[in-house]
Amino acid sequence: MNILVTGAAGYIGSHACKRLLKDGHSVVALDNLLRGHRAPMDLLAARAGGRLTFLDRDVNDTPALEEVLKRHRVESVMHFAALAAVGESVQQPLLYYRNNVAGMVSLLEACDATGVSRLVFSSSCSTYGQPPERLVPIPETCPQHPISPYGRTKLMGEHLLADYAHGQRLAGRPFAHAALRYFNVAGADLEGELGEDHSPETHLIPVVLHAALGRRDGVDIFGVDYPTPDGTCIRDYIHVDDLVDAHVAVLGALKPGDGLAFNLGIGRGFSVRQVIRAACAVTRTEIPTREGPRRPGDPPRLFADPAAIQRTLGWSAKVTDLHRIIESAWAWFRAHPNGYRSG
Ligand SMILES: NC(=O)c1ccc[n+]([C@@H]2O[C@H](COP(=O)([O-])OP(=O)(O)OC[C@H]3O[C@@H](n4cnc5c(N)ncnc54)[C@H](O)[C@@H]3O)[C@@H](O)[C@H]2O)c1
Repeated sequence: MNILVTGAAGYIGSHACKRLLKDGHSVVALDNLLRGHRAPMDLLAARAGGRLTFLDRDVNDTPALEEVLKRHRVESVMHFAALAAVGESVQQPLLYYRNNVAGMVSLLEACDATGVSRLVFSSSCSTYGQPPERLVPIPETCPQHPISPYGRTKLMGEHLLADYAHGQRLAGRPFAHAALRYFNVAGADLEGELGEDHSPETHLIPVVLHAALGRRDGVDIFGVDYPTPDGTCIRDYIHVDDLVDAHVAVLGALKPGDGLAFNLGIGRGFSVRQVIRAACAVTRTEIPTREGPRRPGDPPRLFADPAAIQRTLGWSAKVTDLHRIIESAWAWFRAHPNGYRSG
């Protein structure tokens, strides 16, 4: 199949490209390189035998997208491209609405103009906001009340998809889509070639590993008085290869006109202190920590009820051991202490 991957040069998009190439697909890898890296694209293209075309384009450039979809006879889209830092979205909301929401409009316009009728969208558990404790583990039916501009752009993306699909159905052109609500994506390519290189980095596991490498002087723990066994927040960490595997399963299962939404998580959580302890064990390093106050909007426990995708598609995460998740990230960081700039 010919598949457009937007945000291909980013953390998850690059892992998705690798998997799709392995499965024999042809990949049009599009990224404006605002937050992504050329290196993983070059690495994958070098052995793809012409099945990966990297394009430095913006999803907001609708005419360019139309041209790409037509020229490469794209049949399906995996839409990862987005700005994805919650704190930044609070400071620069318009940047987020322009990029993430207008970007989705532009992509759907291009799909409409060219007849592309299948799309899988990176949504987020942040669309749930702060669910009540009784709804954790969180099912897909949990009310979606995001509390950040980032979370709202993701929920708007879901609404845009559903409304667009409805219009297409009325016009007799069924459009199939799935919104996959990721929890905390973590780890790196189990073969050690690809990894996570965000700047600035805000995700806990890479932050802890940067501290283990000496790239930062320690790790801040935001809140040690939560009603959890060790007082720190609990989150669901899903390995990036498992996450990509779920995308492949969903894309393969989409039938004309489907509109699906699934949580992607492992179904249990680990606390901040558990993550730091596991990282100390994996890296054999004492990682300094600083305890500070809670951050506004951080609920004590957030983890997925992943039963729906398991029931519907038989998919569940394979790498559920925290140490293994961290080991995969650590292997990449050790080989690339300065991320993709390490060469
Ligand atoms: N990493 C997580 O834990 C997590 C959790 C929930 C949801 N998500 C979602 O998954 C997707 C991928 O996340 P990631 O962690 O790989 O982020 P990332 O920043 O590593 O990758 C996103 C990529 O999209 C590109 N991009 C952004 N705007 C673009 C535009 N207008 N045109 C073209 N390219 C553009 C960036 O340059 C970057 O390479 C995002 O949509 C994010 O919101 C990620």
